[in-house]
Amino acid sequence: MINTLVRPADLRDHQQLSNLVFFETRLHRHLDWRSPLEWLGAPFYWALEEGGQITAALACPEEIAGIAWMRLFVYTGRWSAENAWQLLWATARREIEQAGGARAAAIAIQPWFQEILAASGFENRQQIVLLEWRGFAGQPSAARETAGIRIRKMTEADLPEVEKTDAASFDPLWQNPLETLRRAFAQALYVTVAENEAGIIGYQLSTGGGQRAHLARLAVHPAGQGKGVGSALLSDLFTYLTDTGISRLSVNTQSDNRISLSLYQRMGFVRTGEQYPVYTFDIPARAKEAT
Ligand SMILES: CC(C)(COP(=O)(O)OP(=O)(O)OC[C@H]1O[C@@H](n2cnc3c(N)ncnc32)[C@H](O)[C@@H]1OP(=O)(O)O)[C@@H](O)C(=O)NCCC(=O)NCCS
Repeated sequence: MINTLVRPADLRDHQQLSNLVFFETRLHRHLDWRSPLEWLGAPFYWALEEGGQITAALACPEEIAGIAWMRLFVYTGRWSAENAWQLLWATARREIEQAGGARAAAIAIQPWFQEILAASGFENRQQIVLLEWRGFAGQPSAARETAGIRIRKMTEADLPEVEKTDAASFDPLWQNPLETLRRAFAQALYVTVAENEAGIIGYQLSTGGGQRAHLARLAVHPAGQGKGVGSALLSDLFTYLTDTGISRLSVNTQSDNRISLSLYQRMGFVRTGEQYPVYTFDIPARAKEAT
């Protein structure tokens, strides 16, 4: 009989996991600045092993304390999705509980993963909606500078200040810590900050190349919101894209983020109709046992 074991995954599993991640089609992968293999060595990463072979894996390492995004769920044909998930999720829940609890979350693109999450008690309270901007189509661009605001290219030295703006602007579920911002910065096409006399109050980060770009981050510090800074960052980005010959810019936002949706639509983005559910599940800390 072959023993089935759920155990922490570590760097020694790199080869086996890379085979699963690259060749296995039964896979959920988070939209992430790191590959699932780059998370190896972090807590909350488990392998389902049978006779020395990894046949499924689940990773939800915390990037922000208390937030455990499902970054990888993969299983081989040896399992049904439900069976592999049940074995891994039972261990994940127990160990996250013991470690002090967390909010588990997933952007589930494939219907089979949506079904599994819903059956496990995950709740779907918002969607990620996709929008696209397709050039100015003859409209004049908005004013490039807002009074007292300067838009300039971001440098690596700005990242600690940018992290503060990011943390102040986003709910913890959507925040990017410094290390992630560093990775995003390294992979980006065009990154700018908005600053006033007090320093950085907003930023945007876009990726892409060829004919297309993607606005991956836009944030304005709450103290500076509603004064046209977000619009100014977008106008400057549109000018850059137009000058570079890029005519399509996509962006994702949350279905309940009314301010960003209205800003994007006012600036010429249209919804593509695509949307993906965000599922969350709160795992409480395990209560201390009475002595
Ligand atoms: C979305 C965001 C970048 C907009 O930045 P901003 O500098 O406030 O944007 P602007 O002032 O140029 O325009 C925003 C619009 O929302 C309105 N608005 C901004 N803050 C508001 C608030 N707190 N309450 C109500 N309306 C507000 C503005 O009046 C403006 O309306 P208008 O288009 O009718 O003129 C900013 O709100 C933010 O950082 N939010 C948190 C992070 C986020 O959600 N990012 C985008 C998601 S991917």
